[in-house]
Amino acid sequence: MVDLFTPCALGRLHLRNRFVRSATTSAWADERGVVGPEIVARYEELAAGGVGLIIKGHLYVDPRGKAHAGMAGISDNGHVPALADLVGGVHRNGGVIVAQINHAGCEAQAGERMGPSDLETPEWRARAMDDGEIREVIRAFGEAGRRCLDAGFDGVQLHAAHGYLLSQFLSRLANRRTDEWGGSLENRMRLLREVYLELRTRLGDDTVIGAKLNCDDFSESGFTVDESTEVAHELAELGIDFIEVSGGGFGLEAGYQARARAAEDTLAAHPALAEASFAGHCARIREATGPTPLALVDGLRTVACLQAVVDSGLADLVSMCRPFIREPDLVKKLAAGQPAATCTSCDACSSEEVFGVQMMRCTLD
Ligand SMILES: Cc1cc2nc3c(=O)[nH]c(=O)nc-3n(C[C@H](O)[C@H](O)[C@H](O)COP(=O)(O)O)c2cc1C
Repeated sequence: MVDLFTPCALGRLHLRNRFVRSATTSAWADERGVVGPEIVARYEELAAGGVGLIIKGHLYVDPRGKAHAGMAGISDNGHVPALADLVGGVHRNGGVIVAQINHAGCEAQAGERMGPSDLETPEWRARAMDDGEIREVIRAFGEAGRRCLDAGFDGVQLHAAHGYLLSQFLSRLANRRTDEWGGSLENRMRLLREVYLELRTRLGDDTVIGAKLNCDDFSESGFTVDESTEVAHELAELGIDFIEVSGGGFGLEAGYQARARAAEDTLAAHPALAEASFAGHCARIREATGPTPLALVDGLRTVACLQAVVDSGLADLVSMCRPFIREPDLVKKLAAGQPAATCTSCDACSSEEVFGVQMMRCTLD
């Protein structure tokens, strides 16, 4: 049995335990994308609460790829000093923190909606990027990665999940291109591959670089688990330091049924995994990636489940988001014998109706 509460290595990083705070955007940055003292204090509190690895909420690499109002940026050197304060607060409290970097593509509510192809929904319209713009995105990710290190982050995580630009390119539903960036899976994963290689070249072999990857988009004729296992395999071959397995972003309702079906085999062997939404998918990805460290996120709440995730070999790290909004000191509480996070997954913390764009607060008593 693996002890969740004892230290482990992630690349050259030393984590004090196997718990990860999955990227969680606060939407509290100012209009220039600069984080303020309130958010810096939140991260300090999280680190003091004992979590092993913190993944900073997504940072835009280019203002055109800004997902929502209040999203923080890393597209400019002016973003670095406040992020350096945030990182300093985490380090002073014994924490390790990597920055999640993102471009929202068609989902850029506060930027310029553009992506792999011309796309239209009842709410918005996005235009296709040309080859030059795609190459600018690659460069923007590379420069953003460099700034993350300037700010003192311990590594970076590429956001290739939840229907943002990198996951749009992966999906045949969003990506209808016929050039080298679309068509076959090899072409659709080219952008992710090139972004990863750009970061590796700029940041060096010692820097921890990971990705959050959809195991499935759960949309009709979109990115599937068969494809995500191939992409994960390719990233592992390229030497990525970790993959966080997530899912969804397009057509979530269909997704909940799909993920229940895919988890059947794994669940039969380990009933405690029932609450881990993507357990079955993660099992497939594990087969394809071998020893590359994996983190599993979504729905994990009880110690029994967290323990089953690592004991079954599905993943090396257990990742949670909403539970840490409610209980920043969750790891200390679990170590002291609390059997589960008290988060009920009510989703008020990401509800615009409850908070406007001011996400990341818990409404439960
Ligand atoms: C308020 C809020 C903000 C989030 N921000 C991000 C983000 O910046 N990047 C990301 O990859 N996922 C983000 N997510 C998704 C979570 O990281 C996670 O994948 C999801 O909540 C499922 O995990 P959980 O069941 O432990 O909450 C966010 C979720 C919430 C509720």
